[in-house]
Amino acid sequence: MKKITLLLFAFASLLQAQVPVYLDPTKDIEARVEDALKRMTLAEKIGVIHAQSKFSSAGVKRLGIPDFWTDDGPHGVRPDVLWDEWEQAGQSNDSCVAFPALTCLAASWNPEVSRAYGHALGEEGLYRGKGMILAPGINIYRTPLGGRNFEYMGEDPYLTSRMVVPYVQGLQSVGVASCVKHYCLNNDEEYRHQVNVIVSDRALHEIYLPGFEAAVKEGKAWGVMGAYNLYKDEHNCHNQYTLNKILKKDWGFDGVLVSDWGGAHDFDQAVRNGLDMEFGTWTDGLTMGATNAYDMYYLSKQYQKAIVEGKYTTKELDEKVRRVLRLFFRTTMNKQRPYGFLCSESHYEVAQKVAAEGIVLLQNEGNILPIKPQGKKILVVGENAIKMMTVGGGSSSLKAQHEISPLEGLKMRLKGIGNVDFARGYVGDVGGNYNGVSTGQNLKDDRTPEVLIAEAVEKAKTADYVIIFGGLNKSDYQDCEGHDRKSMELPYGQDKLITAIAAVNKNTIYVNISGNAVCMPWRKQVPAIVQGWFLGSEAGIGLADVLLGNTNPSGHLPFTWYENLSQVGAHSFGEAAFPGIWREGKKIIDEEYKEGIYVGYRWTDKQKLKPAFAFGHGLSYTTFKVSNLKAVNAVTTDGNMTFTVDVTNTGSMEGSDVVQLYITDSKCSVDRPVKELKAFQKVSLKPGETKTVTLKTDKRALSFWDEASDDWKAEPGQFVAQAGDASDRLTCKVKFTLQ
Ligand code: BGC
Repeated sequence: MKKITLLLFAFASLLQAQVPVYLDPTKDIEARVEDALKRMTLAEKIGVIHAQSKFSSAGVKRLGIPDFWTDDGPHGVRPDVLWDEWEQAGQSNDSCVAFPALTCLAASWNPEVSRAYGHALGEEGLYRGKGMILAPGINIYRTPLGGRNFEYMGEDPYLTSRMVVPYVQGLQSVGVASCVKHYCLNNDEEYRHQVNVIVSDRALHEIYLPGFEAAVKEGKAWGVMGAYNLYKDEHNCHNQYTLNKILKKDWGFDGVLVSDWGGAHDFDQAVRNGLDMEFGTWTDGLTMGATNAYDMYYLSKQYQKAIVEGKYTTKELDEKVRRVLRLFFRTTMNKQRPYGFLCSESHYEVAQKVAAEGIVLLQNEGNILPIKPQGKKILVVGENAIKMMTVGGGSSSLKAQHEISPLEGLKMRLKGIGNVDFARGYVGDVGGNYNGVSTGQNLKDDRTPEVLIAEAVEKAKTADYVIIFGGLNKSDYQDCEGHDRKSMELPYGQDKLITAIAAVNKNTIYVNISGNAVCMPWRKQVPAIVQGWFLGSEAGIGLADVLLGNTNPSGHLPFTWYENLSQVGAHSFGEAAFPGIWREGKKIIDEEYKEGIYVGYRWTDKQKLKPAFAFGHGLSYTTFKVSNLKAVNAVTTDGNMTFTVDVTNTGSMEGSDVVQLYITDSKCSVDRPVKELKAFQKVSLKPGETKTVTLKTDKRALSFWDEASDDWKAEPGQFVAQAGDASDRLTCKVKFTLQ
């Protein structure tokens, strides 16, 4: 009997060694994390904290935990690359829906649209087998030269916070982790690996961190990506202050801190300073990396060896692994995950909705928009009317299932109604390849700028309307990762073209495609200007619908549209403030954010500058009145306030307005901005309709970051709240007191 039991036992343990020991799915996540952690060997633990390919890390086969796949982010799920190459894997199932860029999403000022965006992206990611999407990007727009501003949500920490939370929640609601990036202070691109940002604690907390804090505390993001740059002389992928202290201790972040690709640079810091998953590192120091360098990563073999040799205990390792396991149980090991869908109709609808709500009507003199197309000759001009924009820009480059260009969109919508002609106008970048994905377009045109302009002008003379599509194009230095723009002017001689056309046709409409403000020296000569962003798959439809009035525009600027760089805080303190000054040896460049908290409208307000278009500006085909702002409580002791304000559609078309509430501290012991956005709501109204909107603010809305106590502080006294529908169109105000 004893013999038989022993035999059975031996057989059972043999089985145990060979068959995966699946983890009990009924236990709660923390119990499962501890359970799994106990069963893992040192090698298995090391295996899950660093990459095994360009975009994946290992699971634990023995325990039935699958490999973990990440992907970019943030405008659609990036096509798959080869295991250890940046070349395309050549899949036929990785064409996606390209959603509008995040600047457009922010311009919608509609958190529910952001939730739908995250959700649709999550479903696409799920279909493609991704456990984490490297998105969204929320670095603050500090200068219009910032190469990646198009992937971010503008200049204001409050707007960014309100928009990032539902994006993260929507994405994670389908069991795909969000990896909010790039934490933190990655506000320009040119020297992103070498820049050491010097910024006051106050600006750090008031301007640069709130979006991340909201994503973590309210959005409950499961992932955050460390930024490439340095802060306090440590890279942000392993930074004692930003990661261990602020992110993990102060905010209680329980997810994984993922390094940006190749963002880890120091072994001991990688172990101790908050990095949980290392991706993309080229630890042999070669610029182009080594083949299959994964064993050479900091958090790989050398870490394992150092633990075996007793140089580190497993304290830091177990903490990292716990977080990674938590990520697994929230995503790939979550049996409740719904199904994924790729390129579904509902995703295209979301893409259209974001475009419809985010396109900004900047100017519309004489109400020349919307176009009345019946029997009219419409001339479309410009490379951006035909160029596919979903390919390019860096890691957010996509392989879209389809992309409707502005010219195609107009032709589709005007079929049988108007007559559309096209003139190239200028030649910008005729390339259409990024990272092995090609648009397949041949945009080559060898004519000289003079010939191109002459042709467009000639045609413009007899057109009823001219619509010029210009701007930037996601090529290097034109809204693209890795570099900043070299100037704020439009490239490729577009100013000349636009001026020449406006001189011969008074119905000229300029549609700007970009994620950044551009100089518009001809602004007064062109009656209508539309900000058309990078709109993704449905670009042409979104734009045509606004131009033709099928959509009443309701986007508002998420950043200040400066006339030129002389109006920008970051450019007002010489090169020390941008792009920075190299230290001896040229390894590190110090960039000091000398404008402090005065970013965007906070700067133009303080300096009394009039930008081309103010933060929060956006017109409609109808008109609105924002009036009757009231504080429900005139005195607050806990800092909580409730306001009501009326918004009326005073025009003749149904439309949506964005009611914005700004707060001013009348008297304070520290210098404070003239006003700051603290609440907003998008409201849809029929002609003649009035709605009373309720806006609530809390103590944080009255507070500044007090460097002495290292905390938020609201000083008792009088405050003023103002409401309107742009930062320069505040039409009512009310005073209240914090006691
Ligand atoms: C970018 C990240 C991106 C990563 C992976 C990096 O170069 O900065 O935003 O997620 O590459 O593609």
